[in-house]
Amino acid sequence: MSNMDRRGFLKTGSIATVGSYFVGSTKMHLMATPEPEPAKPIAANDHIQIALIGAGGQGQEDTKIAARVPGVKVVAASDCYNGCLDRAKELWGKDILTTRDYKEILDRKDVDAVIIGTPDHWHMQASVDAMNAGKDVYCEKPMIHVYADGPKIIDTWRKTNRIMQVGSQGVSSIVYAKAKELLAAGAIGTLNMVNVWYDRNSAQGAWEYTVPYDASTTTCDWPRWLGTAPQIPFNAEHFFQWRKWKAYGSGVAGDLFVHLFSGVHLMTNTLGPTRAVATGGLRFWKDGRDVPDVMMALYDYEKGFNLSVRTNFVDGGAESVGFVFTGSEGSMTISGEAVTVTRVPRETEPGYRVDLFSEPIQKRVLEIYHEKYPTTYPSGPTLIGEEKYVAPHGYSEHYDHLKNWIEAIRTRQPVVEDPVFGFRAAGAALLSNLSYDTGQPARWNPETMKLLQS
Ligand SMILES: NC(=O)c1ccc[n+]([C@@H]2O[C@H](COP(=O)([O-])OP(=O)(O)OC[C@H]3O[C@@H](n4cnc5c(N)ncnc54)[C@H](O)[C@@H]3O)[C@@H](O)[C@H]2O)c1
Repeated sequence: MSNMDRRGFLKTGSIATVGSYFVGSTKMHLMATPEPEPAKPIAANDHIQIALIGAGGQGQEDTKIAARVPGVKVVAASDCYNGCLDRAKELWGKDILTTRDYKEILDRKDVDAVIIGTPDHWHMQASVDAMNAGKDVYCEKPMIHVYADGPKIIDTWRKTNRIMQVGSQGVSSIVYAKAKELLAAGAIGTLNMVNVWYDRNSAQGAWEYTVPYDASTTTCDWPRWLGTAPQIPFNAEHFFQWRKWKAYGSGVAGDLFVHLFSGVHLMTNTLGPTRAVATGGLRFWKDGRDVPDVMMALYDYEKGFNLSVRTNFVDGGAESVGFVFTGSEGSMTISGEAVTVTRVPRETEPGYRVDLFSEPIQKRVLEIYHEKYPTTYPSGPTLIGEEKYVAPHGYSEHYDHLKNWIEAIRTRQPVVEDPVFGFRAAGAALLSNLSYDTGQPARWNPETMKLLQS
């Protein structure tokens, strides 16, 4: 780094920025890339061998990213569809073990840790089995499928002393870290409202995933895939588009709200909501699914703010995900890989309304007003201040999340999203389903993580 660069290097809080400039009236700050990997060779003790349980879309993605962390090797994969097992060999080598039965993986001494990318209805059992077998775990969100899963996972995690990271990768984002820092520093004053959303406008966005032509009871291990779900005859749509049914998924709340709650809990440093009221409906994707494609909900947080959350799978506009935090002194928006703080300075005098009074009264009211608030110059429109913090091009929070897990496996230090955090995020999200299904408010104690009678 040259002296010029060094002088230009800004450090605001713990999230470094490498430069600032104006675009119009917005002050832009470019955030620094997180520390590069050490160039030194990885010590023998630091080599980590991982295996994948549930080698579908997200499991493959997580594992590809984990394998980029220096010292990590993929040695096995399990799945219930032959096409995904073959794909695992294409990705990580023909010598890796592939199996339909994840217990075979858990029995292997050379597997240190597993990534669990199964549908939601398998998260608890696979996590518990893996930790009981001595493996560290990365389990995809939502950590739970039903509330009873939460204590089972947490108890096993505590009993076995394993490292477990839940996969809402946003919580490792430098953008969220910056937003957390800004909120804590009072950048928008006292927080009173949070609006979050996840809107989509496509068939893939609405979970219409491809069913491969060869799907059958020969290529798919249907009984194993079903597990404890209701026992029905083979159904390829259920197998490959499982999010559309409650028996395996958790609707838009478990799929998408959970990411938003993970982010809100991290950034606001809160444990969770106390009450939720949800509504919605099945508006467009009437394809046999039993969960709504439009859902919105309102939540109370004891820390003094309310939250609104929504997903619309029939958004005729652009697909979008976002957070808006509103406070007494400004608002903060997260969109894409950037966080923006907007502040409109509070007025210094209350102003007046006099034209409804008689003229002599108007005159005297104004005299009194100006005695109390003498006119100051220059006057003019209030200045709006806007600052935007942008992550570097190509930044990957997903990589940082898996790296955080791998480092925790090596150091035995806590991860950023342990099962308690994961249960609080999923527990909050699933209150929407509970309220939607019962037509009643759903109540929750975020500290004890227990549902309360409404
Ligand atoms: N963090 C994110 O941004 C993100 C994104 C997408 C999905 N996810 C989560 O990842 C998980 C998987 O979603 P997906 O879209 O990859 O689903 P998917 O259907 O593509 O993959 C799931 C795979 O698990 C396999 N499976 C099912 N039961 C199994 C068992 N008992 N043992 C081994 N394999 C089993 C299936 O055969 C399937 O191939 C879900 O929980 C989902 O919520 C997270």
